[in-house]
Amino acid sequence: MSMNIAIDGPAGAGKSTIAKRLAKNLGFIYVDTGAMYRAMAYYFLQNGIAADDEAAIAAACPKVDVTIAYENSEQQVILNGGNVNGVIRTEEVGNMASATSVYPVVREKLVELQRQLAARADVIMDGRDIGTCVLPDAQVKIYLTASSATRAKRRFDELVAKGISCDLTEIERDIIDRDYRDMHRETSPLKQADDAVLVDSSAMDIDEVVAAITKVYERAISA
Ligand code: DC
Repeated sequence: MSMNIAIDGPAGAGKSTIAKRLAKNLGFIYVDTGAMYRAMAYYFLQNGIAADDEAAIAAACPKVDVTIAYENSEQQVILNGGNVNGVIRTEEVGNMASATSVYPVVREKLVELQRQLAARADVIMDGRDIGTCVLPDAQVKIYLTASSATRAKRRFDELVAKGISCDLTEIERDIIDRDYRDMHRETSPLKQADDAVLVDSSAMDIDEVVAAITKVYERAISA
């Protein structure tokens, strides 16, 4: 049986940075599920489909093929045969992914793919509903969070380092809106699974978070 580690949490909690580090240390495959929702969102944006047009989204879903490949152990998302890794990291695509991931028709497709990946290999998978819905039997479940102010500041610093001008208050407002939508949707809302370990990284650096989760993992495998 494969070993699965689920990491859920709100936008900007550092899930992907932490999950990538852990995957490298433990020899697991990292699966970024947010990137799959982003790929679908990118398709909807490219095809002029509005986030609130559920009928158009349902009609488009069968035409969208999302698969995953790995290049130098980095996940690549393939949308209808083309690699979209370079175009899905924008705020526009992130917000569209949050808005369109509310639809069961979108989720069903991706959850199926995520379960197949987890059944084949030892994976560390991050997202919003991994511990609660996608992999309810994952041996390790983490709910990684941080205050909205901390998450906004991290995002702000990242953008400034890239030379992109931005507004801290606006970034925090966006994060709060996204949290609200992800936590209050009807299908698979973001919440801590009953058996997940809560890690609040507000006052922790990356190494401390990695060490804390490694401890949880070691406890789980020795149990
Ligand atoms: O983690 P991210 O910012 O790349 O995710 C983008 C959006 O995709 C997020 O706001 C909600 C949605 N998502 C989801 O509904 N379920 C997941 N497992 C992962 C992401």
